[in-house]
Amino acid sequence: MCGIFGYVTSRDEELGPILIEAAKRLTYRGYDSVGAATISGAKIDLRKDVGKVEEVAAKYNFAEMHGQRGIVQLRWATFGEPSQVNAQPHIDSDGDLVGAHNGNVVNNAELREQFIAEGLTVRSQNDGETCVHAVERYLNRGYEFIDAIRLAYGDLEGDYAFVIGRVNDDKLYAFKKGSGMVVGIGEGFTCVSSDLPSILPLTREVIRPQDGEIVTLWADRVEVRSVKDGKLIDRKPETVTETMDAVQKGGYPHFMLKEIHEQSQAARELLHVLNGNREVETLVEKMKNARNLYFIGCGTSYHAALAGAVYFAGLAGRAVIPILAPQFIAQYAPTVNHDDVGIFVSQSGETKDVLNALEAAEARGMECFGLANVVGSTLTKAASFCLPLCCGYEISVPATKTFTNQVVTFLYLAYKMAGKDVRALDVIPELMDKTLEMVEPQVQAIVEDINQWNDLYCLGYGATYPIALEGALKLKEVTYAHCEGMLSTEFKHGPLSAVSKGFPILFVSDGSATPLIISGINEVKVRGARTIVIAEDDPRLRANADDLIVLPKSDPQIAALLGVLPLQLLSYHMSVLRGYDPDFPRNLSKTLTVD
Ligand code: G6P
Repeated sequence: MCGIFGYVTSRDEELGPILIEAAKRLTYRGYDSVGAATISGAKIDLRKDVGKVEEVAAKYNFAEMHGQRGIVQLRWATFGEPSQVNAQPHIDSDGDLVGAHNGNVVNNAELREQFIAEGLTVRSQNDGETCVHAVERYLNRGYEFIDAIRLAYGDLEGDYAFVIGRVNDDKLYAFKKGSGMVVGIGEGFTCVSSDLPSILPLTREVIRPQDGEIVTLWADRVEVRSVKDGKLIDRKPETVTETMDAVQKGGYPHFMLKEIHEQSQAARELLHVLNGNREVETLVEKMKNARNLYFIGCGTSYHAALAGAVYFAGLAGRAVIPILAPQFIAQYAPTVNHDDVGIFVSQSGETKDVLNALEAAEARGMECFGLANVVGSTLTKAASFCLPLCCGYEISVPATKTFTNQVVTFLYLAYKMAGKDVRALDVIPELMDKTLEMVEPQVQAIVEDINQWNDLYCLGYGATYPIALEGALKLKEVTYAHCEGMLSTEFKHGPLSAVSKGFPILFVSDGSATPLIISGINEVKVRGARTIVIAEDDPRLRANADDLIVLPKSDPQIAALLGVLPLQLLSYHMSVLRGYDPDFPRNLSKTLTVD
């Protein structure tokens, strides 16, 4: 997700300690590299590397850095592996501009080629550098700084926030598109950051710039202008009253709830990145020409792989073998060869089971690609290439936003395989927000009753089968209850014997097999079960189910994806009711690097 912080004061000061402190307060966003730059007169002092704040700051003695303006950045890699050259901030060709961003510039590759052709010095793969050159190219053409920024803003596609300064000047400039950014106004200084935690220890007077606005920061004032016409915008500062803990959790009591609510923004950013990612076409071609296609993962990531297989079959008529990583080794690895393609799915990119499967596949010559959230992880290095999940740091142990972005990626790839227009998927983020808004009260209405039980079932069919598995996993992870996810039609083959009066059974339906779901409902209802159905509104379901958790209208593939949101919320609220910490369930770890 990256984090930026910029600071402006009126005279040359020791800025190192301020920048280190601000960086530490952004670490909750996740990062792999750290960098700081100070500007003093005609000199830019830039120090950066891969590592933790304490390590990099100590190694490069950030504490001694001084100047009248400073920028610090924590990088969470999306474009370009974690490395010193890709770490931010970045300077322009002549070294008189310095800037850093958070977020993703999705036309990074295209812009880099343009800059190289124009003779600018491009040093890294990173899109933060692209932001700097985007301004530089217009300064070179003689534009005033503010106009160069306005033009750069038009060129930089994606979701990001950016701060930039230049030598022999007394200000920093900042702007944002899609991502968050906050400006702080203090006694004798101003600052700008991706998020409040780095600002609050300094000042509680803030301005929240909007997309399409440019902020100019002097030591004693800030100015907000419109990108469109450069005109001044009157924006009064507000006073922040929340505590630091609440601010870090975005006002939510737990990271899990925050991350559930971040899903729409994460999906939006992912779709933008996929649209701009040239590797997508390569991957699609490879998958089209593959003899056998395997989607491989563990836990939540396996559920996404399973959803991907259903989408590929239904939308593109392409058979995929979704398989748990360790079982891949036993069941398929001995049979694969260089005509086969595997997509290895992992939030962390470090799950040992997944890496073992990749090793076994590569030993047989199979082409291995990945979907990973942590760029720079072992999987991203071992695979031919990985598509990034673009979720930023997921703190809570139960995966939420990384699961939905894995599923969205597979849906996107299935659309590409089918030659369908991926713009149809742009509705997903809004539908996710609408779903959360609609289902929250519906989940609240049943959670206390459901919470009485320590055995539950979660059933789905077709594209909602993996969703049922994922919902059951979430419930298990954070409530410690026994919850089994199943294909709805399998329930009669054994588990039916467990049903007693009031026994809760959750069904997730995408509307593609409603009669089948209704017969499943009645099968358990006549034996006393309480049936809770997650689906779009349907009088047939209302007539049969005990409770209907209503999803907004969408098409079946998207409905399946939306179906996981109420299950995440139910898990979260049950966990809290039980007095557990859903962010850190007992016995579980976010990354499992052992067999
Ligand atoms: C651990 C986590 C699960 C996760 C699984 C796979 O078991 O507790 O939540 O789904 O690993 O993780 P990965 O990082 O490979 O997606």
